[in-house]
Amino acid sequence: MFTPVILAGGSGSRLWPLSRRKRPKQFLSLLDDRSLLASTLARLDGLGAGSPIVICQEDHRFLAAEQLRQAGVEDAILLLEPEGRGTAPAIALAAWVAETQGRDGPLLVLPSDHHLADETAFRQALLHALRLAGQGRLVTFGVVPTRAETGYGYLQAGERLGDNGYAVARFVEKPDAMTAEAFQASGEHYWNSGMFVLPPEDYLAALGTFEPAMLEACRRAMEGAASDLDFLRPQADAFRASPSGSIDVAVMERTDDAAMVTLAAGWSDIGSWQALWEVLPHDERGNALHGDVCCEASEGMLVHAESRLVATLGVENLVVVETADAVLVADRRRAQDVRQLVEHLESVG
Ligand code: GDD
Ligand code: MG
Repeated sequence: MFTPVILAGGSGSRLWPLSRRKRPKQFLSLLDDRSLLASTLARLDGLGAGSPIVICQEDHRFLAAEQLRQAGVEDAILLLEPEGRGTAPAIALAAWVAETQGRDGPLLVLPSDHHLADETAFRQALLHALRLAGQGRLVTFGVVPTRAETGYGYLQAGERLGDNGYAVARFVEKPDAMTAEAFQASGEHYWNSGMFVLPPEDYLAALGTFEPAMLEACRRAMEGAASDLDFLRPQADAFRASPSGSIDVAVMERTDDAAMVTLAAGWSDIGSWQALWEVLPHDERGNALHGDVCCEASEGMLVHAESRLVATLGVENLVVVETADAVLVADRRRAQDVRQLVEHLESVG
């Protein structure tokens, strides 16, 4: 048995203007008619998992509850953060719930912004990961990198642990471009997929060693937690007192107990318009089109029209996203910079 923990508290700002503060990307249907959150929940079907813990921001509670209901998930606990403090405290809250409820087995932490083309391969890797977690390891899934990427964490494979696993010799979160190039050339490094299998007591112990203030804030927040219907609210002031941090930096870079299993499941993080373009079906000129769109003499485009006809002529490698109140036209290769664009727009009001 294991407890799924679904992280659904991110802002998804690089997918602006579709992803908005009121409805960030995990609640959007970007790949098919299901939201990314619903696809993540569907990944658990038939795995014999315990009832999931979904962690999101207070502001999104009704959206999350409605999507859980539509996905036919009735036994989930919705843990509501008053505001985001990053993935390390979020996972700590879930670990407390699992401990307090006396649940058996590890947590399976799943971000809600991933696409997996081959769910069967994921299930096989999960079995290996559960075995390693049973030995007290903090386990992640390593993906063979296809390019130097500064937006991901990197795992260096160390000693072999069984058929499909390795100890993690080194974990480097979001390296700079030169380091990422060196890792890519080494052949020993994998991308951190951002999914984890964690024995809750070992995760909390590691957090207590590396980030005691975070652990203490989360402990106090859960001691003062209040439940109301399916919602579980950590005590807000206690939680706000937690330092911010990701599991990657707070724990995985520092622990000696990290292990990885290799994952060849067509994994993709739907983090940017570029990533979405890569995963969506293309026509013969490399155009991925959604809605009422006409692309003439145009190549490598991602065009998304919500409410109007969008036509392009003689252009290449652009992202064009039309919504009722905002239109984005961007160079597809600068998709990472949309985050800064959104920050700029917010700062000028
Ligand atoms: N509940 C909650 N609270 N969820 C959060 C919070 C938070 O404060 N912050 C982020 N999340 C959720 C996001 O919605 C997403 O599903 C997941 O946690 C991961 O956060 P991201 O912000 O998307 O992380 P990242 O993509 O920069 O980096 C992580 O994933 C990469 C692969 O996709 C790291 O684990 C990297 O090492 C990894 O390579
Ligand atoms: Mg991400």
